[in-house]
Amino acid sequence: MGEKLLLRALKGETLPVPPVWMMRQAGRYLPEYRATRAEAGDFLSLCYNPELAAEVTLQPIRRYGFDAAILFADILLVPQALGAELWFETGEGPRLSTITTSAEMDRLKPADAIHDHLAPIYETMRILARELPAETALIGFAGAPWTVATYMIAGRGTPDQGPAHRLMAEDRATFDALIGRITDATIEYLSAQIEAGAEVIKLFDSWAGSLKGEAFDAYALEPARKIISALKARHPGIPVIAFPREAGDRYIGFARATGADCVALDNSVDAQWAARNVQVDGCVQGNLAPGHMITGGQDLVDETRRIVRAFANGPHIFNLGHGITPDADPANVELMLQTIREG
Ligand code: CP3
Repeated sequence: MGEKLLLRALKGETLPVPPVWMMRQAGRYLPEYRATRAEAGDFLSLCYNPELAAEVTLQPIRRYGFDAAILFADILLVPQALGAELWFETGEGPRLSTITTSAEMDRLKPADAIHDHLAPIYETMRILARELPAETALIGFAGAPWTVATYMIAGRGTPDQGPAHRLMAEDRATFDALIGRITDATIEYLSAQIEAGAEVIKLFDSWAGSLKGEAFDAYALEPARKIISALKARHPGIPVIAFPREAGDRYIGFARATGADCVALDNSVDAQWAARNVQVDGCVQGNLAPGHMITGGQDLVDETRRIVRAFANGPHIFNLGHGITPDADPANVELMLQTIREG
């Protein structure tokens, strides 16, 4: 068997058919996911149950034969391992105890104290490394420090990341200490994922788009650069996909500046523009709008073809521009795959 297609694309190879996987591919749009989550009890219990977390990771691989599996976990497990309280409000989303003062910051655990809490996640990765089909690449992940900090500061998701921007403006020392702690913990966490079998790492900076100018350099680019260089020093050759979502023009040069092997593009980016301005530096991933997984039809086929063609002259991993949503139709995923693989 040759090298896995996803790993070849990440090394810069232009393939006749791009490898494909989907953000949130294990999720509520799949009946088998909903059944396993019910068996686990709730979302966090599922994350911390290695057998069942491995099972839901494998479900979309069995159903669709994606080229990559992504560990089933969540970016907010790192704050929890650092000592923050975390729970999910049904129908609303995550809630955390907040960090807004230096005293609260001082109560967090040190970065290297996270491993006991996260041991079940490493066990999930070991199960997956054993059980995945030989052609499927195994992706580990973490949230990027800015995105994780926005949840830790506000205690929830926010439309404009206002509380995090306010802390940055009003108490830069505490804000920087938090970013530093998350950065160090993320290096520890991802390193342990690689040791447990991850072949690729993805860094999710879902809220990078609200950082502008120097703040983008300091809190999107620099932490990614630091994490990627530490991982590559410890694990030579480990490929990294960076996702500075909604970075706009700042996608240009992001891979070069951070050492990422691939940048993931959100669906606000025009594929032809990205081919000229971003793919010139190496592999790109993306970027079909997740809404097509709800609406399907000829629009889905046309848009999938347009993206495949726009990126056909360089290394490309096909993906959505953001996670697939619970109201998506599993049949539309099949249609997308058929369109990519059969032209
Ligand atoms: O992609 C995958 O399939 C791997 C697993 C994964 C999950 N979350 C599972 C999940 C990954 C990679 C994530 C990343 C994540 N989590 C991000 C970054 C990517 C992005 O979407 O921008 C963020 C911001 C989070 C935080 C988070 N987790 C939120 C805001 C929510 C609530 C919103 C929602 O979709 O329900 C979650 C919950 C979550 N994480 C679910 C899943 C499958 C849904 C939980 C459920 O089953 O009810």
